[in-house]
Amino acid sequence: MNALHIDSSILGDASISRQLSQAIITQLQQQNTDLNVEYLDLATQPIPHLTAEILMGQNTEQSQLNEKLIQQYLNADIVVIGAAMYNFGLASTLKAWIDRISVAGRTFKYTENGSIGLAGDKKAYIASSRGGIYGENNPMDFQEGLLTTVLNFTGVTDIQIIRAEGVNMGAELKDKAIEEALNRIKTL
Ligand SMILES: Cc1cc2nc3c(=O)[nH]c(=O)nc-3n(C[C@H](O)[C@H](O)[C@H](O)COP(=O)(O)O)c2cc1C
Repeated sequence: MNALHIDSSILGDASISRQLSQAIITQLQQQNTDLNVEYLDLATQPIPHLTAEILMGQNTEQSQLNEKLIQQYLNADIVVIGAAMYNFGLASTLKAWIDRISVAGRTFKYTENGSIGLAGDKKAYIASSRGGIYGENNPMDFQEGLLTTVLNFTGVTDIQIIRAEGVNMGAELKDKAIEEALNRIKTL
């Protein structure tokens, strides 16, 4: 079984989304001793932004990277994404990854009846961390909302969001949010 583990927080060891995404991977490893984990740390090894040159396939090195990232996503049975909320959205490095794997004919296709995702048959876990409290389906949330939309668009509908929020609203709320998220991970 293949897992793709992605982190995007810029805060290193102080990051909550990293702590949660790692806890999810550890939990999954306990359940699947043969779990093969590929890891992308987008903060320390960012993927260059998509350019016209890359889009047109005029940069061999970047075309190879596109292929690697798409294959890695398609091959994963499980995707675990550590997503910090930055300015209501995702880290730009995570958006750069999305721009590389959202490719017509590879991870989705357009038909006369609309789009079809080609990367289904996988589970996704989003380890979400945010300073304020937004709950679900909040119009100010372009973080979980964007990630869920992109995953859905590529055919991935089995998504669990493990959320720690209100983490910048005092130590008590922060500790409680992390503890609750970690407890939820133990039940996965
Ligand atoms: C650059 C930056 C932008 C942020 N923007 C928001 C925001 O728009 N809304 C919010 O609730 N929290 C915001 N925060 C707080 C983070 O979401 C919070 O610290 C979260 O824990 C980050 O994830 P991490 O701990 O994995 O780094 C921001 C933090 C940083 C560093």
